[in-house]
Amino acid sequence: MNLFGKDLITTQDWEKDELTAVLELAEDMQKKRFSPKYTKLLQHKTFFMFFYNPSVRTRQSFECASTELGGHAQYLEPGGMRLKTKKTAGEIIEDAARVMSRYAAGIGIRMLEDKITRYGEADDMLREYAKFADIPIVSMAHDKYHPCQGLADIMGLRKHLGRDLKGKKLLLYWGHGALARSWCSVQEALLIYSRFGMDVTVASPEGYNLDPAVIESSKKNCGDNGRKFEITHDPVEGYRGAHVVYARNWMSPNAYHDGEFHKQEEVDKALQHSRWICDEQKMKLTDKGLYIHPMPIDRGHEVTDEVASGPRSIIYDVAENRLHAQKAIMALTMSKFDYKLKKTAAKVA
Ligand code: CP
Repeated sequence: MNLFGKDLITTQDWEKDELTAVLELAEDMQKKRFSPKYTKLLQHKTFFMFFYNPSVRTRQSFECASTELGGHAQYLEPGGMRLKTKKTAGEIIEDAARVMSRYAAGIGIRMLEDKITRYGEADDMLREYAKFADIPIVSMAHDKYHPCQGLADIMGLRKHLGRDLKGKKLLLYWGHGALARSWCSVQEALLIYSRFGMDVTVASPEGYNLDPAVIESSKKNCGDNGRKFEITHDPVEGYRGAHVVYARNWMSPNAYHDGEFHKQEEVDKALQHSRWICDEQKMKLTDKGLYIHPMPIDRGHEVTDEVASGPRSIIYDVAENRLHAQKAIMALTMSKFDYKLKKTAAKVA
């Protein structure tokens, strides 16, 4: 399988067997973390990281991933790069992408809700970099998607529920809170969990619809696998029979208006829905449901401490998986590492 040079903006752009190759390789890299077969794959190579927004896991795991593959990750403050923005003159994306392609092995970009004036603006920017760069562009979380998180989640579910996720039920649950969170992680989860054969239920109060195009693609993924896709506005019903509960806050589609992100309006509105929290009483309705979240968690709003720190929570495993999944992504797209799917995995895929 040749993935050298391939961009990763959402997992939905990749074939299922390509995603399975990332997962298999990541699992092997976890088992043989410092094996010589992996420690020189990015030797002498550099990965550029533009962070328009803060990060703990993404920055640290990409830096560790680069080091463990024998390369180097360079942290870049986009504010210091003199790039052209809507408000300031500066270097255009085509020039930046073409020059950086002459230095680095790949570019990661994070751009979230408060750095844009309309939903989709960051996705457009990543795709413009991808158009002009000769090296892979990897989303490190942007307004629409968070592919590295989606792959780390599935790796966690394969460990705890088995490799074949067909027929397992995901509840994607809106949690109230004061963060007005972006849609990237939850939308990526819908796309990749449905791709891997899970039944999907989305539960939120009225008025918290996600991107209709993502909902359509997720419904289609479920349909292609013969699985169910449901939306409910009841704060409890979706828990029944769930194998995985993904409880996280997300902003409403009204967050952007008049060319601005209105965070305080979103927070004030969200805090009125205090019944929308993942707690032990609701988790009792699940089928021994796992609790999953990309972190950082807004404890006491999205989920109680009892659930987040309880025996069915897999949050730390998933956070660790970011490292292994990103090593696999980098090995496959930024080095000429040749990977063949195992026969059993090809069957499941
Ligand atoms: N899940 C995630 O992307 O975490 P950070 O925001 O800390 O990078």
